[in-house]
Formats: sequence, C-alpha cells, structure tokens
Amino acid sequence: MLNVFKLGYVDFHVSDMDAMTTYYEQIAGMTLTETDENGSAYFSTSTDHHNIILTPSQETGIRRFGFQYESEHSTEAVVEHLHSLDIQAEVKQQTSKTVPEVIAFQDPEGYHVELYRTMDMLPANRRGFKPEGIVPNKVGHLSIRVGDAKQQVEFYKKLGFYNTDWIEDYFGFMTCNRDHHVLNFFTSETKGMHHLAMEMRNYQHLIQTLDFLRLNGIHLLWGPSRHGAGHNIACYHYDPEGNLIELFTDGDIYIPELDMFDPRPWHNDFPQKPKVWSTEECLSLWGVDFEKALV
Ligand SMILES: [Fe+2]
Repeated sequence: MLNVFKLGYVDFHVSDMDAMTTYYEQIAGMTLTETDENGSAYFSTSTDHHNIILTPSQETGIRRFGFQYESEHSTEAVVEHLHSLDIQAEVKQQTSKTVPEVIAFQDPEGYHVELYRTMDMLPANRRGFKPEGIVPNKVGHLSIRVGDAKQQVEFYKKLGFYNTDWIEDYFGFMTCNRDHHVLNFFTSETKGMHHLAMEMRNYQHLIQTLDFLRLNGIHLLWGPSRHGAGHNIACYHYDPEGNLIELFTDGDIYIPELDMFDPRPWHNDFPQKPKVWSTEECLSLWGVDFEKALV
C-alpha cells in the first residue's frame, strides 16, 4: 500500500537568513534553486529541486520534514489506509511549487511530517552538487528529541519503517531503506532536532571536508570516530543557528529480508543484527571520549 523509501527534505525555521543561506550554499555546497514569495529558500544537494528549506521565522530549529513514497494506489486510498492506522493525515496541494501534493500529518510528538510522491527534478544541465564545500552524497538521516522514543518507534513502524537498533531504551534507530538509520528518536526533556546528518562519499572525503571547515572557521565539536549502533564514522559541528550537523560515512547497510546488516570486519557480532547497545559501548568504538554534552 505505502512504500516510504527516502528522507527527501528538511525545513528549518530561520531567524538569520543571510548567515544560514551562506552556510548551506558556500559551506554545505548545496545549490540555491528557488526563493519563494514567502522568502523561503530551497537548496538541493542532488537532482531533487530541494533537500533543505530555510523559512524566515522569529524562531530557529526544525519546522517539518518530508519523505518520498511510492504506491500503486491513489493518494486518497493511501490517506484512507493511514486513517485506518489512526494517523490523522490530510492531503495538501502545492505546499511548494515543485511538490504538487503531499500527505501531511503530525506524529505523536507533534512533528510535522509530509509524504510526497513526486518532486520536480533539476534540469539535466543543472545539479545540486557544487564543486566545493561539504557536498554530501545526500541528507542521510534526521535525529529528533522526543518525550517517548518507544512510542515514536511504534508509530513509524506503522509507516513501514524498520527499528534497526536501540541505545538502551532512550535512543531508537529507524530506517525506510537499506541505510542503518534514516530517522532516530532520542528521549529527552526538551523537544527539537538533535542533529541532521549528511553522508560523505568516503573517509577521504570526510577528512578533506574537515580541513575545509577549519579553513572556514568552523570547529568540530566531536569526532571523527566510529559509532557502535550503525558503525558510521561520524563527526559533528553546528550550523550558524546552532543546528547540530553530523558528517558521516561508512554506515551499516541493513538487509531487511534477513533482519541483519551486511557484515564488516569491524563488527563484533556475526551476524550483526538489530540489538540494544549500552551507551558506553556504542558512542565511540575507537576509544575517543564522546562529548557527552552532545547527548
Ligand atoms: Fe547521526
């Protein structure tokens, strides 16, 4: 009925559009593809019209996020299916010029989620990738703070997501494709995004990017080191409005048909299957002290 397969875009409330536009264009290496009549700026890092949206606001932080889906059924039938799962979804037309229709709802924690079937692609002679900057493969995953990670995990399972790992009982990982995680939920007393992660091509790309960040006055908060859950090599910095940005590479590949991850030499478990990790064994497999303030 519903195959959600990709994290498509993340929209931020932005109070300093100049600083954030400079970061996403010149530091992240994305292309500004459009500014609409409300002042929202759209950035691409792919063939999609947009993967990041910056919306002028008095506040900062995450505003909404969108997943691409496919279905052999009509939009109305998908919405009916969601209603049968107790998800109060509605169809909205043209939430941006390049997305003709979305299915919109709030998750149990009140985050605004959109499912879209199609988005305009950039013309063949134009692509989101820039020659310089972070230039990620893609916006890989989104981590958000919630009151109850377990409730969120159960909710997103209804949308077809797999629960790939836990850190104890407070940090749940979920995927809708073969990446170890596309979404994760962190039980916290505060709400809001925990981090947004951009996927690097490989370790060499990651290291070159860290030099690029330093030359542009951006300091790392932690890493690089290899995490346990997901096994991604990760490091973190802030964008100009304090949104935590992870750069990562080499994450686990999930095989849903086998409920296991593609084996890698650095795995302790063979097969490596979804499991509950302890905090201590999970945050840094290389023994680099994790910056606890980030959790
Ligand atoms: Fe992450």
